[in-house]
Amino acid sequence: MIQPREVLTRRKLVVCVGSGGVGKTTTAATMGLWAARQGRKVLVMTIDPARRLANSLGLKEFGNTETQIVVPDLPQGGQLWAMMLDTQTTFDELIQRMAPDKRTADRILTNRIYRTMSDTFAGSQEYMAAEKLYDVMTSGRYDLVVLDTPPVKNALDFFEAPGRLSRFFDRRVIKWFLQPYEEKRSFNPLAAGTSAVVFKLLSFIFGKEFLGDISEFLVLFKDMYDGFRERHEEVLRIFRSPDTSFVTIAAPTEPSMEVAGFFAEELRRRGYPRAGMIVNQVHLCAEEPLEPEILLGQAARTTGADLHERTAASLVARLGAAHGRLRQLAHSERVLIQALHKINPAGAFFVELPWLEQQVYDLGALRVVADSLFADA
Ligand SMILES: Nc1ncnc2c1ncn2[C@@H]1O[C@H](COP(=O)(O)OP(=O)(O)OP(=O)(O)O)[C@@H](O)[C@H]1O
Ligand SMILES: [Mg+2]
Repeated sequence: MIQPREVLTRRKLVVCVGSGGVGKTTTAATMGLWAARQGRKVLVMTIDPARRLANSLGLKEFGNTETQIVVPDLPQGGQLWAMMLDTQTTFDELIQRMAPDKRTADRILTNRIYRTMSDTFAGSQEYMAAEKLYDVMTSGRYDLVVLDTPPVKNALDFFEAPGRLSRFFDRRVIKWFLQPYEEKRSFNPLAAGTSAVVFKLLSFIFGKEFLGDISEFLVLFKDMYDGFRERHEEVLRIFRSPDTSFVTIAAPTEPSMEVAGFFAEELRRRGYPRAGMIVNQVHLCAEEPLEPEILLGQAARTTGADLHERTAASLVARLGAAHGRLRQLAHSERVLIQALHKINPAGAFFVELPWLEQQVYDLGALRVVADSLFADA
């Protein structure tokens, strides 16, 4: 059975997936930090709008650029870098890289349709993550990239997103749109042809200027279509590569389990390598019921000598009730964890991380999480 430490020392890409709030960002940061401690050059990529990772790593915030995190006592070669996606900047940079020349790039970037469309696509963090991922993976700058995915409302988005733009720019669609221009070799949308009729209607609704913008945009974008398609295929290839591992993070709750099940199925169907599952935020509790009066009664009476007798007794009784509730919670979590076991593929790791008393927001807390995650050594 593969262990988390093997995944983090051997793979080049680790993708953390799971439902919202289960600890994807926390575990991504933990794994990145641990791998850097093993002497690897690591980039943790997050798309987290809550900027929690930045806090976890002791940074106020970081932008679209890869930022090195100061971690004391890293071994030779060990480096920890982090970046948070700024989706608009990523898209603009993408255009600059893919346009045949600067003039075309500038024309696209100032085109109103591009600005509107890129707002929409930039909103699709999953798409931009895939784009940026392509860049960092092909740059060869890192030994390991840990990708923290955003909270998935529709988990499928993450996998579908890379294809969305290339589908949008499907040649046939563009050709149809551009037909009136190409027929007349002009930018007059009122030319003859099937699409010209639609254009006439559209220009009536949106105005000619808007249509001019659309046509210019499509003419400029047309030649970049192949580039987008190639990048999309490359991202899918990276996802399927044996150098990649998907790790599902779940909490022992029903909604989180459902999402984990969904991911299990989707990853399997797509042939993406599943390395294992981390069940985070598990409440630990003594198996057997504890008797509060026996354990604490005497201590309560001694330390609470100046309190009313009933106060000490009621405190002990409340502690007993709290322990009972925790036991119940731990018991129902056990049942869910057993079910999670069943959807984890054979040979994949299955690790439980305890619910910690304090919020995880600094390097010290990440070390505590790492202690549980890599405890198999
Ligand atoms: N084991 C743990 N014990 C206690 N608190 C935890 C634990 N793991 C994570 N947390 C806390 O739970 C909250 C959510 O964690 P985190 O941001 O890592 O989840 P996420 O899956 O990335 O969330 P989102 O889907 O919103 O991006 C944070 O406040 C974090 O400090
Ligand atoms: Mg997160």
